[in-house]
Amino acid sequence: NNQKKKQTIEGLELLTKFYHYLLTTAKYGTPGMHYLESRGFNEEMIERFQIGYAVDSWDVVTKFLQKRGIRLELMEQAGMIKKRGFDDKYFDRFRNRIIFPIFNMAGKTVAFGGRTLGDEKPKYLNSPESDAFHKGQILYGFHLARQAIRKSSQVVLLEGYVDVIRAHQAGVLNSVASMGTSLTEAQASALTRIADTIIICYDSDTAGVEASFRAAEMLQGNGKIIKIANMPEGFDPDDYIRKFGGERFKSDVIGASQTLMTFKMNYLRRKRNLSDEGDRLLYIEEVLKEMTSLTRAVERDHYLHLLSEEFSVSLDSLKKQLHQMSVTKQ
Ligand code: GTP
Ligand code: MN
Ligand code: MN
Ligand code: MN
Ligand code: MN
Repeated sequence: NNQKKKQTIEGLELLTKFYHYLLTTAKYGTPGMHYLESRGFNEEMIERFQIGYAVDSWDVVTKFLQKRGIRLELMEQAGMIKKRGFDDKYFDRFRNRIIFPIFNMAGKTVAFGGRTLGDEKPKYLNSPESDAFHKGQILYGFHLARQAIRKSSQVVLLEGYVDVIRAHQAGVLNSVASMGTSLTEAQASALTRIADTIIICYDSDTAGVEASFRAAEMLQGNGKIIKIANMPEGFDPDDYIRKFGGERFKSDVIGASQTLMTFKMNYLRRKRNLSDEGDRLLYIEEVLKEMTSLTRAVERDHYLHLLSEEFSVSLDSLKKQLHQMSVTKQ
């Protein structure tokens, strides 16, 4: 089994080089290169992340693997090739896609994410779970970000491959991705083990914001500082950096990230019209409800003061109501 895993990774490492060769060789890689150029990715990132291109062919990869003597059934299990129903012949699974190798903590390729050049579905085709690849145990870009994370003791958590690549291109070298919005326990513990501050910067859409709350709650409680970054509605880090530049991403997004409670307060605030008395009261109640999950007295006190000052409500009545809500919650 270990032998099998080793051989699989050897095959995937070889394919990383092959896809990268195809991308960077004009004869084969032009469509892929055009796509990456149109999105503004530079050569340095193509090298750093070993980006590749799967040409529009049914058998280039299959033939390459055969020629190199790689066991095809291992590559089938790793999701690189598939068997045709009618004659049991293998064919390539990734075709006409940009290839993002997914590296393990040691920097070895254990899977691939393949993006369409257009808007065909699925947008991303990923390798299936295998002996070599447990998606929930990997943070995309981790081995490339490790040094910068250690140095700053901060890690920036993003959603997608291209967000990480864009962030690195902008000099935010301590960024990694959960590859989607569901952070796993294994990913969470890798993050809290390596850094004191974790800044979540998921896409600014409903799915991303809700996932940020879940991720923040998972990461909380280790004595680490958990923050959530805020971008204009509809943007993801890649969009934001392309539109406003890396410096503004660093100062206005990463630099202005907020604790979970402040982030929630702002989120709830945007749904209300605070010049309306009824909305103001509802907002206060919603905030107090969120505060029932705060475990530290100092933290509770801090936000109670903020509410009391902003809405000219006595600290005493806020405390009473929070206490009541905490009791009924149990
Ligand atoms: P671009 O559209 O290329 O900018 O990618 P994105 O990173 O903005 O994509 P999105 O926000 O939709 O998704 C974030 C991450 O979720 C991706 O990097 C993938 O890891 C994962 N993901 C997105 N779409 C799919 C899909 O169709 N299938 C699978 N398996 N994963 C996906
Ligand atoms: Mn190269
Ligand atoms: Mn998204
Ligand atoms: Mn996105
Ligand atoms: Mn995007």
